[in-house]
Amino acid sequence: MTEPGSTLEPAGREDAAALECRDVVKTFKRGRRLRRKTMKAVDGASFSIRKGELFGLLGPNGAGKTTLVRCIATLLIPDAGSIRILGRDVFKDSLWCRQRIGLLTSGERTLYWKLSARANLNFFAALYGLSGKERDKRIDYLVELLGLKEVENERLERYSSGMKQKVSVARAILHDPDLILLDEPSLGLDPQFARFIRQFIREELNQRLGKTILITTHYMDEADELCNRIAFISRGKIVDVKSPAAYKRDIPHTEVLEIRVQGQPDTRPVETLPGVERASAEFKDGVTTVKLVLPRAETALADAIELLRTGSKILGVDVKQPTLEDVFLYVTGTSLGADTTEKPDEAGGRPGADGH
Ligand SMILES: Nc1ncnc2c1ncn2[C@@H]1O[C@H](COP(=O)(O)OP(=O)(O)OP(=O)(O)O)[C@@H](O)[C@H]1O
Ligand SMILES: [Mg+2]
Repeated sequence: MTEPGSTLEPAGREDAAALECRDVVKTFKRGRRLRRKTMKAVDGASFSIRKGELFGLLGPNGAGKTTLVRCIATLLIPDAGSIRILGRDVFKDSLWCRQRIGLLTSGERTLYWKLSARANLNFFAALYGLSGKERDKRIDYLVELLGLKEVENERLERYSSGMKQKVSVARAILHDPDLILLDEPSLGLDPQFARFIRQFIREELNQRLGKTILITTHYMDEADELCNRIAFISRGKIVDVKSPAAYKRDIPHTEVLEIRVQGQPDTRPVETLPGVERASAEFKDGVTTVKLVLPRAETALADAIELLRTGSKILGVDVKQPTLEDVFLYVTGTSLGADTTEKPDEAGGRPGADGH
């Protein structure tokens, strides 16, 4: 399928990052007048995304992900710091930048449910200045691409959440943006729709169309599968930025080496191999399962097999690696599902007056 071209003027500086956030601060005021307190939802966040990257922003509830995404999309004005898209400042060149950003928000109703998918897309296309044949061609293309052809004229209120999300995706990319911001795109979707959305993001948007993507998610498997690099954010601060593989390699971690052998051999020599921190052996249904916990399973693998296979048959070997969830726990110091929503700052104080 060919993609109808965009009418927008050429992109910004060729060598510029697709997105650069520098020392972004966003403070909210809370509470009633005299007891008004401030809290920093984003507290000096800096990171940059290269063109064509699929970049993840991960952090616990209340970490500041949505606030940061809304600042990038120019829906919120930061108290301080700068945000650049392809080298241009989002507040100084906001119109230019907005045309290059596609936004998919979570938890907010951004479509008209009484209207059909086609009518919604016509409406939003008009806001982007698309009209006539060009608009029809673009919507035909997106409806086809997202598998909405059969239902495009039905009211959205009859759609499942998954189908509605497809329309939201179409809406976000109507104007063929360079940078696509996806705030929890698979939230609340069943596994089938979530898989479709994930595949669409990676294979269609990122790999085929070459779009730069910033995605926030709570699903660690999703982040692991999709992202080239991930920024962990905690209490409004970017804690680290790396590839999923680098995170897993770099955290101080342990692996579990599990070996199943037939019968009931003497496992003590294996349990005392160098590096083994903890060990257990369980005999059940004629099979002994030996578990060794150690920093690197491979350091004990060959010796353990050698010792166990004398007189017994090895039935299976498994190594459990650290997951991105282990990384999340380590990097943010918070488990998934914990709410780090900051309580209003007792010290109070006015938000910074500089910035935009
Ligand atoms: N409009 C607002 N007014 C006051 N406080 C706000 C506002 N929007 C966000 N906050 C607060 O800012 C902090 C960051 O919220 P934000 O929604 O950005 O977090 P998040 O990382 O997206 O969380 P989640 O994972 O739950 O979506 C929270 O403490 C939240 O309560
Ligand atoms: Mg959020």
